[in-house]
Amino acid sequence: MKKFLNLGLQPLANSYIKKKNLKNKEKKFKLEVGFNNKNYLVSIINTIPKEKMFNDEYPYKSSESKTMKLSFKNLTNKIKKNFKPKFIIEIGSNDGIFLKNFSKDSIVGVEPCENLAKLTKKKKYKTFSEYWNLELAKKITVKNKADLIYSANTLSHIKNLDEIFKAINYGLSKNGILILEDPSLLQCIKNVAYDQFYCEHIYVFSTIALNQVLKKFNLEIFDIENTKTHGGSNRYYIKKNINKIYKIKRSVQKELDKEIKFGLHKFTTYKKFGSRVKKSRKQLLKIFLKLRNKNRKIIGYGATAKSCTVLNYCKIGTNLIDYFYDTTSYKIGRYLPGSKILIKKYLKLDKKKVDVVFLGAWNFKKEIFHKEKKFIKEGGKFITHIPYPRII
Ligand code: TYD
Repeated sequence: MKKFLNLGLQPLANSYIKKKNLKNKEKKFKLEVGFNNKNYLVSIINTIPKEKMFNDEYPYKSSESKTMKLSFKNLTNKIKKNFKPKFIIEIGSNDGIFLKNFSKDSIVGVEPCENLAKLTKKKKYKTFSEYWNLELAKKITVKNKADLIYSANTLSHIKNLDEIFKAINYGLSKNGILILEDPSLLQCIKNVAYDQFYCEHIYVFSTIALNQVLKKFNLEIFDIENTKTHGGSNRYYIKKNINKIYKIKRSVQKELDKEIKFGLHKFTTYKKFGSRVKKSRKQLLKIFLKLRNKNRKIIGYGATAKSCTVLNYCKIGTNLIDYFYDTTSYKIGRYLPGSKILIKKYLKLDKKKVDVVFLGAWNFKKEIFHKEKKFIKEGGKFITHIPYPRII
């Protein structure tokens, strides 16, 4: 693996600090990103044991966002219409945003974060609070194999991809379909979205790399959709080679062509990205300092894991951002890891109280700008670093 990006010492992105622990020393790790020129995978170099990240305190809930709810609803309608699955497994079922669109006897969730698994169990959806692996696949498919396996924003969190796909291959029926959805490496690189890299995001996949991994397991992509979630994602429709029902659509070659044209198969592309990230840091800091010198009141919006990478990499702390607003109840009253900026309960932005807002949840820009129409109309501004640092 060849390193192309060094994001410095970083705390665990989702370990929001309670007030009483503010003085404790935080565990930090070296966040570096590399490219494997054999299988084309882009991944972080030092990984954290999964039990440290995905446990009964996992703060991220998919259903907190309108955009995500709508995206899942649209997808489930499409799945029902096109594939009519009778038995579905979801890997990484989170708080049930996908499950709840199906009948309870037709779907099983896998969610190792106990606090989240509890939520779907309570609603009587069968949920295994375990990590996905071959043993679990065998347990779940004793009676029937799945005709659909779905997983969104989860496989990129799992280090041992071979183990995952072995289990998927086992659990999937001969003509079954696997749908995967994860942030697109092409979009990440184009947007200089270096904050897609943090302890939980072990991989950001390109189609080129995913193809290589799938090949080993006799799986192939037969369709790809570009989606807007998480700052630009790809939804991959995958089948076993022996399944001849679905023809491989043009979308697959089209995506591969786009990626090759951009150079995602070459190390030099990533090296260039590394330089652009450094430049992005410089520009972002310049904007913050300029505003601070003018005594502007700056707060953050959306205390995301992504913000954690940006703030720690750019060394932005309470000197530059007074506090963050977030709607997630778990985060409210806690402090962002590393930068130790307080997270307050979200209130509609008010130009009388705040001048400029750092867009931590830039992937929800549209939803947020719509919500904060009044603030924008009254002259309120946002700072974003995507695709390059600027005030909008
Ligand atoms: P997310 O986009 O999942 O980012 P990450 O995976 O990097 O943590 O998190 C979005 C966060 O933004 C979440 O904590 C909720 C918050 N948020 C708001 O506070 N207000 C909003 O209007 C939206 C859309 C999100």
